[in-house]
Amino acid sequence: MEEPATGRSLFRCPDCRGPLHDLACPVCGGADGTSDGIPDLLGGGPLAQRCREIGAYYDALYTSRTDVWREQGHTDEFTRYIVDLVDAAGPGRYLDVGCGEGLFLAEVQRVEGFGVDLSRQALLRARARSRATVAIAAAERLPFPDSAFDVVTSIGAMEHFLDDVGATTEIRRVLKRRGRYVLALLVEITPAERLYIKAREFLWPQPRPLMLTRWLLQRARRGRAERQRRILPQQPVQNLYRPRQVRTLLERSGFRTARLITKVASPEAPLPGHYMRIYCLEAI
Ligand SMILES: C[S@@+](CC[C@H](N)C(=O)[O-])C[C@H]1O[C@@H](n2cnc3c(N)ncnc32)[C@H](O)[C@@H]1O
Ligand SMILES: [Zn+2]
Repeated sequence: MEEPATGRSLFRCPDCRGPLHDLACPVCGGADGTSDGIPDLLGGGPLAQRCREIGAYYDALYTSRTDVWREQGHTDEFTRYIVDLVDAAGPGRYLDVGCGEGLFLAEVQRVEGFGVDLSRQALLRARARSRATVAIAAAERLPFPDSAFDVVTSIGAMEHFLDDVGATTEIRRVLKRRGRYVLALLVEITPAERLYIKAREFLWPQPRPLMLTRWLLQRARRGRAERQRRILPQQPVQNLYRPRQVRTLLERSGFRTARLITKVASPEAPLPGHYMRIYCLEAI
């Protein structure tokens, strides 16, 4: 039976980047059909093998729970905020790298959506809740031609990439020149930086003693157990960044920071804490 005309014709072999026939690579065998109807475009070699192991970990997680990341700050407001940033980039083609259960793909309006992730279970959900075209694929080896997308997101995913430089270079490759990359990422904040941020929040330039008291009481009440619960479920984290490292990595991969959204710079942004930042980048 002939396949319906979908965005799948955009897929390329992850290994040789050649066109696919029935989602398989006729040249090198790097892509090999579907799994539960989801194209498997991880390809071969040691990187693909490690990605499969990580995918199995996430499959177990997504099978045991739904809306896994909501309690870690990926709330409806956060989703809306990211979706607005994507839609603001204008109409075109959109790719979500590490799309998970498809929260963003389900909501975008102005773009044709694509999602890749290592977890088949996550992608089954993403496919059910959106019209996006999805595939099991690694950020480090995106199964798309050059300059295919107008906007790319990766939300809470770069921390988990096995090869973050390789993945960022791939994201740049599949973006059109001047295309947008919206990256949400956790960064490591030193105690001194935390102190400075809190001083700016509660003491200077405008003293806010009431807010400070409320925050101190909240912290005391929440306690250690609660703080630990907030970082569950545990995931295979590969990278923890200092802000300067992120900037260098992005610049070297061909991006310019158009806007950096932090809790201090954009208090209206629904970020769960100072440790999360949203980079709005332009491919140069
Ligand atoms: C914290 S979850 C975030 C999911 C989604 N972006 C969201 O915000 O709901 C991280 C996701 O990245 C995926 N992931 C991890 N490493 C990846 C890689 N190398 N390539 C593609 N996806 C990856 C995981 O399978 C997982 O679904
Ligand atoms: Zn091939």
